[in-house]
Amino acid sequence: MSSSKQAESEVKSKLKVLGIAGSPRRDGNTDLLLNQVMAGAVSPQAETKIVILSELSIAPCRHCDGCIKTGECIIQDDMQWLRRDLREADRLILASPVFFMGLTAQTKAMIDRCQALWVIKYVLRLSAAINKDKERKGIFVSVGGTKLNNLFQPSMATVKSWFTTLDIEYDGELVFPSIDEKGAITKHPTALKDAFALGQKLLLTL
Ligand SMILES: Cc1cc2nc3c(=O)[nH]c(=O)nc-3n(C[C@H](O)[C@H](O)[C@H](O)COP(=O)(O)O)c2cc1C
Repeated sequence: MSSSKQAESEVKSKLKVLGIAGSPRRDGNTDLLLNQVMAGAVSPQAETKIVILSELSIAPCRHCDGCIKTGECIIQDDMQWLRRDLREADRLILASPVFFMGLTAQTKAMIDRCQALWVIKYVLRLSAAINKDKERKGIFVSVGGTKLNNLFQPSMATVKSWFTTLDIEYDGELVFPSIDEKGAITKHPTALKDAFALGQKLLLTL
């Protein structure tokens, strides 16, 4: 194989690791955790990318059923390319704090706009994954200001349902209660190290 062909096939076979920053507070607690997960996932075998939802234009789903026959969403905004990234990712990290016991509005809007992928999977009976040869897995990263017993359960239920639609295996969560003010996560004894280790672990195959 020529060296350029080899380089091309290496790029093609790299694991695509996609991090989604779902908080509207830039450089806040979930951003810091996500950055560590992504740093842990840096490797010659991986290609990493972070998407910051609060900087994108993502309208809520209108339930117009415009996608129902084709699996194509009719709303022209940043979800057009982000849906493609989601379908191509081999590893997905969703980071969102708890807002009123659920995901942030930015995160939920993105998830609802994956209704077009739900159509691809359940109506058209195709796979939401573009590269079906690689196993896809994802994790959920979150924090909340309080320490209620069920603080992360509603968000986790939504994320699991979303991953199922994306044909992504839910590989667990990294969540921290009692983290409220900006940067509070840096005072946690293990959180950032845990996040880095999780990023490393994500690269191991299933
Ligand atoms: C609109 C809003 C709603 C919130 N709702 C909750 C909640 O229901 N439960 C909770 O424990 N914390 C809640 N919080 C606190 C955030 O989860 C907390 O401040 C978190 O550290 C923010 O993460 P970030 O820095 O990544 O944005 C809320 C914060 C905001 C701004």
